[in-house]
Amino acid sequence: MSQAREIREPAGKLGVLLQGMGAVATTFIAGVELVKKGLAEPVGSLTQLGTVRLGKRTEDRVSNIKDFVPLSGVGDLVFGGWDVFPDDAYEAAALAGVLEKEHLNAVRDELKVVRPWPAVFEQRHVVRLAAARKKEYGSLREAAEMVRDDIRRFKEENDLDRVVMVNCASTEAHLELDEGVHSTLEGFEAALDASAPSISPSMVYAYAAIMEGVPYANGAPSLAADVPALTGLANDRGVPITGKDFKTGQTWMKTVVAPGIKARMLGLEGWYSTNILGNRDGEVLDDAGSLKSKEVSKLSVLEQLLQPTLYPKLYGDVHHLVKINYYPPRGDAKEGWDNIDLFGWLGYPMQIKINFLARDSILAAPMVLDLALFLDLAQRAGMSGVQEWLSFYFKSPMTAPELYPEHDLFIQQMKLKNTLRTIRSEEVIHHTGLDYYE
Ligand SMILES: NC(=O)c1ccc[n+]([C@@H]2O[C@H](COP(=O)([O-])OP(=O)(O)OC[C@H]3O[C@@H](n4cnc5c(N)ncnc54)[C@H](O)[C@@H]3O)[C@@H](O)[C@H]2O)c1
Repeated sequence: MSQAREIREPAGKLGVLLQGMGAVATTFIAGVELVKKGLAEPVGSLTQLGTVRLGKRTEDRVSNIKDFVPLSGVGDLVFGGWDVFPDDAYEAAALAGVLEKEHLNAVRDELKVVRPWPAVFEQRHVVRLAAARKKEYGSLREAAEMVRDDIRRFKEENDLDRVVMVNCASTEAHLELDEGVHSTLEGFEAALDASAPSISPSMVYAYAAIMEGVPYANGAPSLAADVPALTGLANDRGVPITGKDFKTGQTWMKTVVAPGIKARMLGLEGWYSTNILGNRDGEVLDDAGSLKSKEVSKLSVLEQLLQPTLYPKLYGDVHHLVKINYYPPRGDAKEGWDNIDLFGWLGYPMQIKINFLARDSILAAPMVLDLALFLDLAQRAGMSGVQEWLSFYFKSPMTAPELYPEHDLFIQQMKLKNTLRTIRSEEVIHHTGLDYYE
């Protein structure tokens, strides 16, 4: 039996702060408001629809996740956030074009009152975005202080004692780890004072969140909290953090299909993935710097999943290509194609083709909900630093520095559910099943 954790009850309301109020964030907010009114179902959300088996199969004990661990209810969520456009959540959602008018109009009043505050924004980090407004600050340290003030004001005005933050902002240009700036808190804070170019806005928000004791999730591929200075700060201040880059469409499929190929010890010659998308996310990714962040995030998955050093004959020479093309006619209705060249017995070739058509933000929105609720749970359970058990939601899961990330969706799911069992002092499930036959 595992160690039970003391978990504070989720009393009162939970504030959800969104960095970026674009397609994903507004689809999330509108969805929650529709669910609150009983006008739609929270499809795709593990916290709302998922179950967890407890004990042996003979015990017939299955609980809804939301009954098994004390989570905030959707009715208790309050929203706030930042954007470089002043549009309220209704206008931003209408512009994003994900949800139909009938859905948006049913929650118009609730969306109209969510008005983003001016953002911390630096053009060099998101080249393709023409910001309508931003905060006026002398240094990035001042910018961080302004974000901290926003967080405190939001808590006070809405009478909240708990808040979480989810980064749903545009993908920033790829940044390499800068030892002098990103390794230690001293280096990081000195770089904030100097407004160093290797500190991006997403790092400023992440720093502000952690300093305010606000759990932080990163849905974008931007580096944000994934630098030693900030993971260390999160540990020291007892704040749970997680990221990066929501695992929604093509990469989700990849982490379902590739483990299947590997489980059968079939070989892989190549995997060609291509996408078209026409939303603002696609427009931002039309810049080489932002595109590189996304490509690095998407490419890392196969290499780490297939373990070519363990299986050189099967995966030692895989041609993995990922292309993303901005194609405005599609808006948020993304289309992805995958061509998988694999080989079987005696090296004979085979192919699998996947054609995935989806509104991108419909896949991402339930993840924002789950991450907000699970991070709040983690904090009330006294968990801090990198929350690897939430890697289920990410393309580039954050881990302890000495670990490689786990990408297999079903191992990630088991990790998540076993973590829930552990904090509730239930037996973890390892699936050997031998005891049924003894
Ligand atoms: N949609 C998906 O399925 C999906 C999947 C994985 C990752 N993501 C990532 O999630 C993020 C959001 O995606 P989206 O489709 O909502 O994009 P979007 O362009 O519709 O929304 C992003 C919003 O962030 C705002 N923004 C940019 N810089 C900002 C800053 N410094 N501070 C505050 N706001 C800022 C933009 O003005 C915009 O409104 C992107 O980074 C995207 O790559 C999305």
